[in-house]
Amino acid sequence: MKRRKFLKNSAAGSAGLMATPILVGCKDKKVAKESTLIGKQSVIPIVIATWDVPNATAKAWEVLEADGNALDAVEKGVMMEEADVENQSVGKGGRPDRDGNVTLDACIMDKDGNCGSVVYLQHITHAVSVARKVMEDTPHVMLAGQGALQFANEKGFTQENLLTEKSKLEWMEWKKTAKYQPVINIENHDTIGMLAIDKNGDISGACTTSGMAYKIGGRVGDSPIIGAGLFVDNEVGGATATGVGEEVVKTVGSFLIVELMRQGKSPQEACEEGVKRIVAKNKNYKDFQIGFIAVNKNGETGGYCIQPGFSYRTFSKDGHINHPSKAYITS
Ligand code: GLY
Repeated sequence: MKRRKFLKNSAAGSAGLMATPILVGCKDKKVAKESTLIGKQSVIPIVIATWDVPNATAKAWEVLEADGNALDAVEKGVMMEEADVENQSVGKGGRPDRDGNVTLDACIMDKDGNCGSVVYLQHITHAVSVARKVMEDTPHVMLAGQGALQFANEKGFTQENLLTEKSKLEWMEWKKTAKYQPVINIENHDTIGMLAIDKNGDISGACTTSGMAYKIGGRVGDSPIIGAGLFVDNEVGGATATGVGEEVVKTVGSFLIVELMRQGKSPQEACEEGVKRIVAKNKNYKDFQIGFIAVNKNGETGGYCIQPGFSYRTFSKDGHINHPSKAYITS
């Protein structure tokens, strides 16, 4: 599919288009006037995901096209990557911690601000679905470790060995030198974060990962932390992150990006500002990767990263497109 210019929204008059004013809840008229969205046509439904994950975005689109809701779309979408053993940064087949244990972090958030999360979950492929159960079936937001596993068992999830032979062999190789450092753009893949807007204009998001390869046992990154790895506000938009989670946690990156959009920045501008905050606070920013994606209420999207090599995929009426992300470091 040809890459198309997507940041400019589609021509007026196409079926299903709506001019949706955003900044509901933004009482500051001056800020509202500065919004890049006033007068633009919306591109909904739409799905956007970190990295080039066509199976995931196609699955989410299938849900949206069948008039499904955004929450189902993002869950079903990221489940594709969780089940894919070739994707070694998410779900089954994920790279283990330094002790050889595959531990998963995931979260999900809906249009009403409800959210659920699991951290340090072992033996269950679909961490995102456990997170959804936490959101829907408990009064809590986050379950961790053994408690999360026990909850998953109670909900009927099947326990599996998540350490594939390929990941095990690579881990054994790593142990020979055991350098404890992040690997930039590992396999061009990391956390899968996904945001979707359904035909009603409602937004949901999901984020799932096996975390940093060969991490210290118990380490948790940004992906299951609401506001860091993912944030959705149905009045404004959503954002999600990939890369070295510690740096995203420190700046509450996804929440920051949504708030910047609330103040009138486009998704692209907000993602750029989110990355620049991290760069400004890290002398060693050249040694790690962070990527953000965002969507606003109109279905306008953006993405930005530190290192070249990150991309994100969208599916909408404009097509199914992989977008190489603009990067802070250009050479
Ligand atoms: N972004 C995934 C992690 O740092 O765990």
